[in-house]
Amino acid sequence: MGLLRSDLAPRIASEIQIDARSLLDGAHAGEIRELLEQRGVIAVRELHLTDAEQIAFTRTLGKIVDEDKVLKITMDPQENPKAEYIKGAFYWHIDGTMLDVPIFASIMSSRQLSAVGGQTEFANTYAAYDDLPEAEKWAIEGLKVVHMFEVAQRYVRPEPAYAELQEWQRFTPKTLPLVWKHRSGRKSLVLGSTASHVEGMRLQESWALLTRLREWATRPQFVYRHEWKLGDMVIWDNTGTMHRAIPYPLDSGRMMHRTQLAGEEPFV
Ligand code: SIN
Repeated sequence: MGLLRSDLAPRIASEIQIDARSLLDGAHAGEIRELLEQRGVIAVRELHLTDAEQIAFTRTLGKIVDEDKVLKITMDPQENPKAEYIKGAFYWHIDGTMLDVPIFASIMSSRQLSAVGGQTEFANTYAAYDDLPEAEKWAIEGLKVVHMFEVAQRYVRPEPAYAELQEWQRFTPKTLPLVWKHRSGRKSLVLGSTASHVEGMRLQESWALLTRLREWATRPQFVYRHEWKLGDMVIWDNTGTMHRAIPYPLDSGRMMHRTQLAGEEPFV
């Protein structure tokens, strides 16, 4: 039997109704992957998976990153020693732009909510590309953008200590196409907080272009905002979306558990 699905926004995100057992036996894995690539985001309400179940489910979809581990997404440094970095999640980004092959998809479930804020927003970067005027598509075709981890971190800490900057600079900058031509033939925009500048373009012009495209790609028609309930699980295709968390108090106790699927397609 096919999945019971309803679309959450016209251009992005669907909700599926499925119980944990049917998810875990993998019988719907092919359909889920296909839906993910079509819709960018899939939500399952109030599923309440355990960590072991989330890991097992992730494995039904592909190769899991960091076998047997869930990452705790929280601002609580007792729970996550890298909590400081997680503040970067408040800005639009794509996971894994510093990797040779970016993460294919992320799976995140809510364990504790913030009383205010803490929704997650997703923007469909395929739809944003498709709707660009033809002249704009032509103008940006072939442009390359330098991505740097430190650029994303500067949103959070504009005046880092020198030692901290050196830590950030351990990530080698990556030069990525602005328009990602996927194996499927579809094209998406590669933007987000790690984007530093367009190669070979004057800085002012380059920042203007990246800002204008980010503003375009995050227009309401391309965006879905997930209002979390406890136990929800959301899967997103990291190769065709950007995402960000809506700010929440750092001491809110918000806790998400995340697993990821290894990348399958390089940017070029
Ligand atoms: C992330 O950026 O991976 C996490 C988003 C969130 O906490 O809502």
